[in-house]
Amino acid sequence: MTENASSIDVVNPFASRFMRTRRAGPFAIVIFGATGDLTARKLVPALFNLYLDGFLPEPFSIVGFARRDWTSESFRNAMSKALDEFSRQGSPDEATKSKFLSHLKYVRGEFDQPEGFERLAATVRKNAIDQQRPLNLLFYLATPPSAFETITRNLNSVNLVSRQADDDNWTRVIVEKPFGHSLESTWQLNGTLHAAFREEQVYRIDHYLGKETVQNILVFRLGNSIFEPLWNRRYIDSIQITVAESIGIGNRAGYFDTAGMLRDMVQSHMMQVFTLIAMEPPAAFDPVAIRDEKAKVLRAVRLPDAEQLGDHVVRAQYTSGLVGGEEAPAYLQEPDVPSESETESYVALRLAVDNWRWSGVPFYLRTGKRLPKRVTDVAIVFKTPPHYIFDQSGCSDLAPNVLRLRIQPHEGISLSLGAKVPGQAVEITPVRMEFDYDTSFGQSSPEAYERLILDAITGDATLFARADEVEQAWRLIDHIRRHWHTLPLEQYAAGSWGPNGAEALVAREDRQWVRL
Ligand code: BG6
Repeated sequence: MTENASSIDVVNPFASRFMRTRRAGPFAIVIFGATGDLTARKLVPALFNLYLDGFLPEPFSIVGFARRDWTSESFRNAMSKALDEFSRQGSPDEATKSKFLSHLKYVRGEFDQPEGFERLAATVRKNAIDQQRPLNLLFYLATPPSAFETITRNLNSVNLVSRQADDDNWTRVIVEKPFGHSLESTWQLNGTLHAAFREEQVYRIDHYLGKETVQNILVFRLGNSIFEPLWNRRYIDSIQITVAESIGIGNRAGYFDTAGMLRDMVQSHMMQVFTLIAMEPPAAFDPVAIRDEKAKVLRAVRLPDAEQLGDHVVRAQYTSGLVGGEEAPAYLQEPDVPSESETESYVALRLAVDNWRWSGVPFYLRTGKRLPKRVTDVAIVFKTPPHYIFDQSGCSDLAPNVLRLRIQPHEGISLSLGAKVPGQAVEITPVRMEFDYDTSFGQSSPEAYERLILDAITGDATLFARADEVEQAWRLIDHIRRHWHTLPLEQYAAGSWGPNGAEALVAREDRQWVRL
């Protein structure tokens, strides 16, 4: 059957536009791990783009803290190169770039030694006095979690942490993923952070929540009245969430081989997308109401029966193959991967949610590296009509309506409908109604980190994971991992859509994965 696409235009974009424009007040951000990759690739370019867009008015400071023997000047030089390479909007002119870079300072120090923290405290205090601004401090822990405890302890010991979150002299902390590697380690991390900060001051980042299209899941569901009445077991047959990557693990074996796809992608990004799709409508668009609902639906996820885990979970590792016409090595041949590694580069899951809305509706999740292309997609598959009148006309094969939320790339939404093919016979074929971000808005979206850093500066934690959410996600992952060894480690060729077991997972229930 053919699929035709038609499009939906943005109807009068100014009529009902919901705008929430915010600008930062005076602040300083202190980046721990300032000489690392994340700072150069994401954090400083994000701050620069916020600056270019007028979201960071004077005065503000960006203070890098790390072990390396850098100076403020060498930090600025390194970040200047990083902006040339990684800034979304490029770098309009040298004068603007230099002005932005003049806000950068560098403090050298070891995470476990107080001297560096004393220098840091002196620097940020003097800076606040010079700039005649309150000591509003945002700490960014772009470090491995093993460093969190010493950093927070040392910050406390030099009195840089106030337990205020909202007013002048606020202190907040952004924490990078991975947040824990099990439920127990997550309790410990939360305990460490809560020893210094109140929960409202902790911003656990998951960059998927900063993606425009992930945020649009909420707007789409709750800013329109036509979808929510259908968003339940009465009309929905099943839901599929796919996060496919064509890349392998690059040079990240040190981290990835100890994590694997279940912990790296499912616990974090996939659970976030899942909760936004599955949660109940919150009463307000605020951090408490939204995160209450997210935690609630995670609590309703049924832990798969250990005896039948193989019917719910598939794990696999790639062998060599062709991805986009290029030869890709097997996982075991990637640099620094131990030759006996059983780490999974692919996971497929069937989740059940035990509540009134979703009883009986399976959620199929799959994510893998070295799949044919990079695509993140949610497919809501609707039930077919309860009474079908066209089979007498010889038309028995009716495709279900499928609502697709395309999160990346080519962000957009499409709905497939059955339509009559012109002619004398009754022939029904699926056609698509399309909404495409690029065509409708024609402007590039801010990077996830821009959105999230600005949210943290302005004190909006809506798009950050709360302690109980993260713990609930680990409850599921830990349960699966406890029985992990009972599952076969399947193989799939790099460049294919995954192992046979993933096909069987859906075929067992007479379903198939959507084509991407
Ligand atoms: C990271 C994971 O959090 O997300 C990586 O650690 C993964 O393994 C990446 O490749 C995917 O992010 P994105 O934005 O490219 O989909």
